[in-house]
Amino acid sequence: MSLPLIQVCALSYRYPDGQQALHGLDFCVDSGECVAVIGGNGAGKSTLLLHLNGVLMPSAGHVEVDGVSITQAMPRASLQAIRRRVGLVFQDPDDQLFMPTVLEDVAFGPMNMGYSATAATACALQALTTVGADHLASRPPYRLSGGQKRMVAIAGVLAMSPQVLVLDEPSAGLDPAARRRLIVLLHGLGQTQIIATHDLDMVQNLCTRVLVLRQGILAADGPPGAILTDAHLLGHCGL
Ligand SMILES: Nc1ncnc2c1ncn2[C@@H]1O[C@H](COP(=O)(O)OP(=O)(O)OP(=O)(O)O)[C@@H](O)[C@H]1O
Ligand SMILES: [Mg+2]
Repeated sequence: MSLPLIQVCALSYRYPDGQQALHGLDFCVDSGECVAVIGGNGAGKSTLLLHLNGVLMPSAGHVEVDGVSITQAMPRASLQAIRRRVGLVFQDPDDQLFMPTVLEDVAFGPMNMGYSATAATACALQALTTVGADHLASRPPYRLSGGQKRMVAIAGVLAMSPQVLVLDEPSAGLDPAARRRLIVLLHGLGQTQIIATHDLDMVQNLCTRVLVLRQGILAADGPPGAILTDAHLLGHCGL
């Protein structure tokens, strides 16, 4: 039997101030799955996602990508290799956008991967076109609207062609047309996807599986048809 693409084993995380955000999570994600992570505010969704490419390191348990455990002690090159495979779009686009122009921002990832400036710019333009934001290429990111920033942040990760796309609340703040465009875009991508969201309609339309978090515990793991019709479960989990 082949290894799961992502394996989360007994994952617990305590923030430095003592806040215990995750309690012993266990699940696997196979290649090609589109997995929603849902749960009320503070349930631990963002904390979980930050572990999938080593932004946060487990307090206990471990996360493996294709059999490679993400650890504090791993060589920098191995962590970079994991981050090339698992692309994370942060919940707050301001955590991700920092270059003087949108084009430079989106080209930053490919440049960092060793692409020439010309090749990185081509990847960036293609990713911006994919998300419908190519007209913003010369704008400074900090002057964009919230929804525009979000689309540019998604382009920044797509430009690196990651094998796994991890998105934290990708549809938050988007107008209905941009949201629809995003769902169609994500639906058409070949990558494995893990998406934290409060947008249950998007989950229904896009995802093949749903993980439900409640106070840092995995309360349920199943197909959208079963999870989203379980009123008792959803109510219990603040949804
Ligand atoms: N930097 C931090 N330091 C201390 N505690 C934190 C920090 N970030 C988050 N927490 C706490 O960890 C828990 C999980 O937070 P997290 O941001 O993962 O929730 P979430 O499910 O993403 O919520 P939301 O739907 O509001 O985005 C919460 O109790 C939160 O207060
Ligand atoms: Mg969050």
